[in-house]
Amino acid sequence: MTVKDIVYINGSFVPRAEARVSVEDRGFVFGDGVYEVLRAINGRQFAARFHNQRLEKSLDGIRITLRGQDSPARFVEIGKELLRENGLLQGEATVYMQVTRGAFTRAHAFPPSDVEPSVYISVARFTPSTELAENGASAITHPDLRWGRCDLKTLNLLPNVLASQTAKERGAFEAMLIRDGVVTEGAKTNFFGVVDGALRTHPCDTHILPGITRSVLRDLAREVNVELDETPIKASEIPKLSELFLTGTTTDVMPVVKLDDKPVGKGRPGELTRKLQRVLAESLASGAD
Ligand code: PDD
Repeated sequence: MTVKDIVYINGSFVPRAEARVSVEDRGFVFGDGVYEVLRAINGRQFAARFHNQRLEKSLDGIRITLRGQDSPARFVEIGKELLRENGLLQGEATVYMQVTRGAFTRAHAFPPSDVEPSVYISVARFTPSTELAENGASAITHPDLRWGRCDLKTLNLLPNVLASQTAKERGAFEAMLIRDGVVTEGAKTNFFGVVDGALRTHPCDTHILPGITRSVLRDLAREVNVELDETPIKASEIPKLSELFLTGTTTDVMPVVKLDDKPVGKGRPGELTRKLQRVLAESLASGAD
């Protein structure tokens, strides 16, 4: 059986190879757009309403207004349709959604108001990194060179791309970003660390993406009597970390056992990490949203 590869672009469902956008699309020219990545398990998009809310905020934050029937909720429906079309209603998949400010002659300020946003949605088979999740990953620290609105999920990912590439070249899974002496988040994940027995992470402000997995996990942690202290971890506290893990839609709870070539804690996934890995896995499997 040939697997279809259908994507959605500006109102049409077409084979990926035939999907087209203008060279003047502002996503292409300026990175002028926003996106979301959702996890689908057996056709069900996990925490879809939280992703919808975040997409609304990102759109508002960069002043893109959707037209006609378009809405984040509708994009989830289109995602579902794509999962069906592409034979991904069973097992694991991701749904990618992107909205740009549309196509117009290049000029930095916004195009005329009749230029419609471009909407692109696609799905892909996803295979969780079970071996890394079991044994733990390594990470590096890296300067956080991003702008002042990291809370918006925009297409402008250049600092994340460069940090991720540096991590890859050093054989690491993730780059932990450091701004003004504190760990903000990973290049593509949020993080949690245990210092002096307390589970800590960076608070949700304009310096981090308010991760959906981060917020789901904070609530799940509370249910198992684990409180989260949102006091940022200073770079100077890194040697005191007894546990460290990353969270993200495609990362779940990923233990970090080595940071800048030094072991974190005992150099293997810690107890709290394991516990939270389990509660998140259960929540994903139950399809809760
Ligand atoms: N990345 N921080 C950053 C900078 C991210 O790019 C992501 C997600 C996260 C985790 O957020 P969530 O739990 O909502 O996935 C944190 C996505 C998956 C990506 O860019 O592919």
